[in-house]
Amino acid sequence: MEDLQLLIDLHKGADRQGPGGDTETEKALDISMLDRSEPLKIADIGCGTGASTLALARLLKGHITAVDFLQEFLDVLKTNAEKEALAKRYRPFAVQWITYHLEMRSLMFFGLRERYTILVLTVMVD
Ligand SMILES: C[S@@+](CC[C@H](N)C(=O)[O-])C[C@H]1O[C@@H](n2cnc3c(N)ncnc32)[C@H](O)[C@@H]1O
Repeated sequence: MEDLQLLIDLHKGADRQGPGGDTETEKALDISMLDRSEPLKIADIGCGTGASTLALARLLKGHITAVDFLQEFLDVLKTNAEKEALAKRYRPFAVQWITYHLEMRSLMFFGLRERYTILVLTVMVD
């Protein structure tokens, strides 16, 4: 078995793949003083199995773009979102974040895409 598959198998059953939790997400929203009734545009880059994606979907009215290069993590997100009837609140992209970022930059440049109000970034940026 390859190292990446071992990592996926180890982490995909966990509640989340990074630090924090729903309480911390809610606290961050409080601090940001965003209007929760606004239809915000949110990007969760490196969403993993979607702990933050789903927390934000529960707490806000906006629509979430969930990006992760591991389809298996996005599959878990889909199952969990369907259980909570939140599947319509997000759109998954199984791509490298840089590909997604560059594509969005060009669309924004041509005025075809709005900026995100909230950006959750948990990938390595080097
Ligand atoms: C530390 S985990 C955080 C997961 C999730 N945000 C959470 O808090 O549970 C980082 C995630 O970023 C994804 N990732 C890492 N590098 C990436 C890249 N270059 N493009 C897209 N996703 C990436 C990994 O697959 C992993 O799911």
